[in-house]
Amino acid sequence: MNNQDLLSRSLQSVWHPCTQMKHHETYPLIPIQRGEGVWLYDADGHQYLDAVSSWWVNLFGHNNPRIKDAIKQQLDTLEHVMLAGFTHEPVVTLSEKLSQLTGLGHAFYGSDGASATEIALKMSFHYWRNVGKTGKTRFISLQNSYHGETLGSLGVTDVAIFKDTYAPLLIQSAQMPSPDFRLAESGEDAEAFALRCAAQLEAYVAAHHAELAAFIIEPLVQCAAGMGMYHSVYLSKVREICSRYEVHLIADEIAVGFGRSGTMFACEQGGISPDFMCLSKGITGGYLPLSAVLTTDHIYQAFYQDATAKGFLHSHSYTGNPLACSAALATLAIFEADDVIEKNKLKSAALMQKMQVLTDLKTQHLRHHGMIFAFDVMTENSQFSKQCYQAAVAQGLLLRPIGHTVYFMPPYTIDESAMDFMVDTTYLVLKTVL
Ligand SMILES: Cc1ncc(COP(=O)(O)O)c(C=O)c1O
Repeated sequence: MNNQDLLSRSLQSVWHPCTQMKHHETYPLIPIQRGEGVWLYDADGHQYLDAVSSWWVNLFGHNNPRIKDAIKQQLDTLEHVMLAGFTHEPVVTLSEKLSQLTGLGHAFYGSDGASATEIALKMSFHYWRNVGKTGKTRFISLQNSYHGETLGSLGVTDVAIFKDTYAPLLIQSAQMPSPDFRLAESGEDAEAFALRCAAQLEAYVAAHHAELAAFIIEPLVQCAAGMGMYHSVYLSKVREICSRYEVHLIADEIAVGFGRSGTMFACEQGGISPDFMCLSKGITGGYLPLSAVLTTDHIYQAFYQDATAKGFLHSHSYTGNPLACSAALATLAIFEADDVIEKNKLKSAALMQKMQVLTDLKTQHLRHHGMIFAFDVMTENSQFSKQCYQAAVAQGLLLRPIGHTVYFMPPYTIDESAMDFMVDTTYLVLKTVL
C-alpha cells in the first residue's frame, strides 16, 4: 500500500472531520502509516514532525512503550464492561487519582471532549433543578470560546465558522468579554486588562445571576481562538464572582490540562478550584478516546436521592472503558516517575529562547504558557494558514495555523534537535509564505 492508494481509498470512503472535502482536490491528505516519538511517517517513507501533538492529545510521543504496554496488559484482562451497574479496577483507580490531583470528588466519564462539556452543562442545569432553583437555566461563556461541536457544546462555543450554520438548533448563551491579551488597549498590561474584563463580567452576572446556571471557560488559554492567552488574575476574579452570585464555574481543561499550561491543571495558576472540571485529550497520552467531568461532593450530594429522575441518568456505551482508563493510568504514572511538570519548565524556556528568531519576520505577540507556544503573523493573505500548512508539510513539519496564528504544541518528549528543526523549518516556511 503506497501513499496514492491509501489517499484515493480514503477520499472514496472517509468523511474527514473539520474539512471541506472538496478542498482536498487542492490540498492532498497525508496518509500516515506509523508514528515514533515526535515523528509521523507516511507510506512512502516521508516523515513529519508532529508539532501539534495530533490535535493536542499526544503528550509522550507516538508509540510510547509505557502506555502501549499498559493497554496490552489490560487487553488480556478486560476490554470493556458497561459502567452502569458494574465497575472495574482501572476506572476506580483512575477516579481516585484524578480526585487526588484536582481536589474534586466523583468522576463522571464520557468519550471525547465535547461529551465532557455536554455532561458538565447538563449536570449544572440539573443541580439547580434538584435544589429547587429552577430559574437557573442559562449559560455564559467567553467571546471566541471553543467547547466542542455537539449541539450543547456548540451552544456555548463562539466561533462563527463552526456555529452559525447550526444557530437555530442551539441553546442560547451570552458571551463575556475575552481577557485574551491581544485584545487589550495599547499600553494596557495583561493584568489590568484581565481585571477590566472581570469587572465587565461581574456587571453582567450581577444583573442576570437569577437565570444563570454556569459560566464555562477555558482557563488561561483559549486554544481554538488562536492560542489567546490571558492573565491568571482573571481566574481568581471569576471564582470570586461565581461564588458571590451562585453561578457554577465550569473549567474546560480539555486542551490545557495535564501539564499543557505549565502546571498539571491551569486552574492551579489562578489558585482556584472550579465546580466542574472537564478533562480529555491528553488524559490518555493520545492513545484512546476518554473524557471525564469532576465535580464537588456538594454537587454530587444534590443528585444522591431516592427519586431516580433526580439522579444523573446521562450515559454513553463506552463510558469508563477499561483500555482507555489503563492508558490514562499509564500517562499519570509517567508524570509521577519522570517529574514531567518540572522538566517541562526547562523545555519551555529553551524553546521560547529558540523562537526569538521568529521575531525577525513579520510577527507579533510571541507568547507561551507552559508547553503552548504561539505568535501571530502580520499578513493580509486570507489563504495564509492553508499555504503555511502546505509549505510546512512539504518540509516535513506538521503545523496547523489557526487564522494568522502559528503555534507549537509538541509532545513533551521533544528534544533539542527536534526543537531546532521545528523552529528553523518554521522560519524558512514563513520566509517563503509571507
Ligand atoms: C477547550 C476545548 N474544549 C472542548 C474541545 C472538544 O473536544 P473534542 O474535539 O475531543 O470533542 C476542545 C477541542 O479542541 C477544546 O479545545
